[in-house]
Amino acid sequence: MADATTTGSAQGAPLSLWLASAGTTRFPDLRGTVEVDVAVIGGGVAGLTAALALKGSGRSVAVLEAARIGTGVTGHTTGKVTSLHRLAYTALEHSHGAVAAGVYGTANQAAVEHIAHLVAAEDISCGFRRVANFTFAGSMDTLPQVRAEAELAARLGLPASFTAEVPLPFPVAGAVRFDGQAQIHAVEYLQGLAARVDGGGSFVFEGTRAVGLQDGPQVKVTANDGTVLAADAIVATNVPFGDHGRLEALCPPHRSYIVAAVMDGPPLDATFISADEPMRSLLTVRLNGVTYLLAGGEGHPAAEHVDPAQRYASLTGYAQSRFGAGPVAYRWSTQDAVPRDGLPYVGPLAPDSRHAFVITGLRKWGLTNGTAAALMLTDLLNGTPNEWAPLFGSNRAPLHPGTRAAVDGQPKAGARPDGQETGPDDVARQVADLGPGAVKVIDAAGTSTAYYRGQAGELHAVSATCTHLGCTVGFNREDSTWDCPCHGSRFTVDGAVIQGPATEDLPPRPTP
Ligand SMILES: Cc1cc2nc3c(=O)[nH]c(=O)nc-3n(C[C@H](O)[C@H](O)[C@H](O)COP(=O)(O)OP(=O)(O)OC[C@H]3O[C@@H](n4cnc5c(N)ncnc54)[C@H](O)[C@@H]3O)c2cc1C
Ligand code: FES
Repeated sequence: MADATTTGSAQGAPLSLWLASAGTTRFPDLRGTVEVDVAVIGGGVAGLTAALALKGSGRSVAVLEAARIGTGVTGHTTGKVTSLHRLAYTALEHSHGAVAAGVYGTANQAAVEHIAHLVAAEDISCGFRRVANFTFAGSMDTLPQVRAEAELAARLGLPASFTAEVPLPFPVAGAVRFDGQAQIHAVEYLQGLAARVDGGGSFVFEGTRAVGLQDGPQVKVTANDGTVLAADAIVATNVPFGDHGRLEALCPPHRSYIVAAVMDGPPLDATFISADEPMRSLLTVRLNGVTYLLAGGEGHPAAEHVDPAQRYASLTGYAQSRFGAGPVAYRWSTQDAVPRDGLPYVGPLAPDSRHAFVITGLRKWGLTNGTAAALMLTDLLNGTPNEWAPLFGSNRAPLHPGTRAAVDGQPKAGARPDGQETGPDDVARQVADLGPGAVKVIDAAGTSTAYYRGQAGELHAVSATCTHLGCTVGFNREDSTWDCPCHGSRFTVDGAVIQGPATEDLPPRPTP
């Protein structure tokens, strides 16, 4: 049951620096029926990269974005474009073997170059900057891991070396260094992609949430006020919908936090991540005459309830003590689908799908993993062989059997476990006791209701049963949203879907 405790206040505006500093796109919403070669659902890095690549190969596309371009996970990223994913190669070699680790690296390094190529060829203004990227050992404890990762990555043909020279303002034991990596303003990048997708028989629709997907010789994607008919469809909604929770269970959502603190001087020519715990991911950027240090980390499974204010406070303390950074200007958090076996899922949406495809499980490295995945699907849809694709197949067997328990073990809405019903008088009393900002989930008459009392004293009551697969939502106090612990769906206090896989709102409930 959600409680009514309060949290401390965090510094800075609760908004992504990238979204705060970018303009807004204004594509129309979908009305009526549109017929194209490929329907792409989701206007993040995966969907838009696929859409542009498909358009470039001569296919007409329609991108359906539920909100605005770049407002999903991609708009809340750190902004590193790199094939160095902390200590991923050691882990992948251990779980899948050296060949697989090499394919993962080749695909991600090609994605770095694909982004660089697109930025130049399409003249996309997005602060693209070549930098070196480091995974650093903050202590002697992680030095052997860092050294081993550097040696393995170099053996796999990646631009890797071990170095003791790390351009951080505090001493570290050593680092893996990848040369020729990059950073971008991810929202400007996506807006640039979207502008180039739209037109010439292809479309971008915003404010258009896909609510249905019918596979067949002609795929039918349904939104509230329109339909797209296409030969193929790609579900690039970060966490997919329409697969009955199969892939969601294999890629549980994981949340992380970022603060953007003001700092003196120019940005560094490098980005960083620590090998040590607590993990810290670092990037500097200059925007509108101000240099910001982005410090990210404090990740946890989305199903775990934490105090976000404490998470931001830890990151703020780190930015200020290690870099001498000034005040935090922005803070934000987001969640990504993290595959249990370490590899993204790219291919048919369901085992029997003929024309419906999916990209998910980008494991918090989606700027490159999402780009690589988009290129794989483009080849697949065009009938072009792709040597990376088999490793990332969406129908591969789980490495760890029994992952279905991840869904089944989650709290489901409904009657109380002790079989007792809360009576109407009791519900009315508990709701009347809620002060401003307080929340409660109450089980009564066989259903769960999520109550939120607004700061002005108004009461919001919606079903607490997630419309995806029926888990009970919990309150996210930082964002004042109802979040589902199972696969990461998020809803406003009035029940509107903010983030999928749910496609339907939480229905309103009468207030007592
Ligand atoms: C804190 C944090 C930092 C990160 N930093 C980095 C980094 O530095 N480098 C890196 O490579 N990766 C990073 N990542 C990961 C990366 O940001 C993500 O993997 C990537 O942005 C995901 O892209 P996407 O296209 O899958 O999802 P999104 O960007 O979320 O795009 C999906 C879109 O689909 C839309 N949508 C959802 N449902 C529907 C529907 N039914 N109909 C229509 N539209 C719908 C959403 O509104 C959204 O815009 C980070 C992740 C986190 C959590
Ligand atoms: S049950 Fe899947 S997101 Fe809620």
